[in-house]
Amino acid sequence: MAMRPLMPLVLLCIILAPLPVSLASKKRHFKWEVGYIYWSPDCEENIMIGINGRFPGPTIRAKAGDTIKVELKNSLPTEGVVIHWHGIRQLGTPWADGTASISQCAIDPEETFIYEFKVDKPGTYFYHGHYGMQRAAGLYGSLIVDVADGEKEPFDYDGELNLLLSDWYHQNVQAQMLGLSSKPLRWIGEPQSLLINGRGQYNCSLAAHLIPGSRTCKRRRGECEPVVLRVLPNKTYRLRIASTTSLSSLNLAIEHHKMMVVEADGNYVEPFFVFDMDIYSGESYSVLITTDQAPSSNYWLSVGVRGRLPQTQPALAILNYQPNSPSKLPSSKPPIAPTWNDYAHSKSFSYKILARQGTPKPPTNPVRQIALLNTQNKINGCTKWSINNISLVLPPTPYLGSMRYRLKNAFDDRKPPENFAKDYDVMKPPKNPSSIQGSNVYKLEFNSTVDVILQNANALSYNVSEIHPWHLHGHDFWVLGYGDGRFSKKDVTKFNLRNPPLRNTVVIFPYGWTAIRFVADNPGVWAFHCHIEPHLHMGMGVVLAEGVELVNKIPKETLACGMTGKMLMRNHLP
Ligand code: C2O
Ligand code: CU
Repeated sequence: MAMRPLMPLVLLCIILAPLPVSLASKKRHFKWEVGYIYWSPDCEENIMIGINGRFPGPTIRAKAGDTIKVELKNSLPTEGVVIHWHGIRQLGTPWADGTASISQCAIDPEETFIYEFKVDKPGTYFYHGHYGMQRAAGLYGSLIVDVADGEKEPFDYDGELNLLLSDWYHQNVQAQMLGLSSKPLRWIGEPQSLLINGRGQYNCSLAAHLIPGSRTCKRRRGECEPVVLRVLPNKTYRLRIASTTSLSSLNLAIEHHKMMVVEADGNYVEPFFVFDMDIYSGESYSVLITTDQAPSSNYWLSVGVRGRLPQTQPALAILNYQPNSPSKLPSSKPPIAPTWNDYAHSKSFSYKILARQGTPKPPTNPVRQIALLNTQNKINGCTKWSINNISLVLPPTPYLGSMRYRLKNAFDDRKPPENFAKDYDVMKPPKNPSSIQGSNVYKLEFNSTVDVILQNANALSYNVSEIHPWHLHGHDFWVLGYGDGRFSKKDVTKFNLRNPPLRNTVVIFPYGWTAIRFVADNPGVWAFHCHIEPHLHMGMGVVLAEGVELVNKIPKETLACGMTGKMLMRNHLP
């Protein structure tokens, strides 16, 4: 046998050797155009906000360490737009967080803005509009970050499926917003349909859909085609599940298949098994399923409403064991979500979520504890949500610029309250329901450890207290504990400091409290708010800031409105 030349072997070795991260990480470039589209997400035609003519927006897939570059053109003829990268911390790029009035000015019609940021942590994320209620108009999509080359996930699987969950209203977003600010309030009500990967069926059975030649559902191209999850028998699949609902809390179950929860909001959790799981708006999970059921059938995946009396049909998808035809319907009924107000069930799920071994532990020395009381209020006859009696209204000049350049009168500079009245009864409607609007900022000392106690209360009517999923921008936080009733000082002793999960979204249960801890180590201005779109619109949020003086190189395009806009015109900004 002839000796092989040495050269190719050497080359091969170079190719196989693990590349240093800096070499392996990529810049991933996307060109997106945001515009109105006709679309039939639930088989009823409507107007939505789409990206590149489609809904939902394109899935971004990247590896940890990559840089994402999205060139975003706003083709909405008469309104601004921004996109927030939900779960990405924007370390070193606070201006790319995509929050109108906080991190940047909305992008004007016909303008293009370039988002450029690093995805440093593998996980299941998504992106969505963060201006007015544009998320509810369909401006969202998935963002999935795989482990860096040469790294491994701490679990094995053979294949992957992605489920982006949302809810859908037939009434347009402008009408919804007007109703929410009207006196008396015109509430948006329950959604017409739940969507899986942007597809649902309103007034049209999924079965009818799958039968070839059936005319029961108005079909426009594949826009409301049922979701079919193709799997092979006896394999393990990773299901990535994220919820960007406007209002609904959801429950997901797959007939006869138990799920092992392994990831929450881009952080690994100690694996545990469930047959159904709750998902609140703003949360994401990965679960592993094994296709170990009789291979001759298909199985239902069902998503139903929790926390509010459901008036919306569950969303269905088919777990299609190959080579069965996807139109072979499961013989049994789809799994039914637990009763909407079975909060004990919801709590038992939330309490099971604990950090996987190896997750960083929280520092034990918080320097500050901020208690945030969530109440429903009346301001000049309008119904609002307030935090410590301030209902958030965003200023015309984005905070990042106005705080960095120390502009006066750009927002309410008074210190917002860190606590609420000792005698406030969280079990009853507010004694004095009036509240005020404000744009105040919680200024956090850079690198300090902060505890926040989110305190739920009774809404305006008796015996009503709702679920609120709170989402923090720019950070992950540790969930230290939950409790019923009013938080008391001694509850601190019950905090879980051993294995609290790291997350970016956490729920407060009706009449309960949730305690979180985080380190204010990311220079910037960050939203912290209820992820229910109409609640945020009605003021349910606060603004946090830390280390803003350390932020350099804020792109000028993010400052081109309000007071910073005027200063730019006069060349008064550095
Ligand atoms: Cu996904 Cu400020 O939100
Ligand atoms: Cu809420």
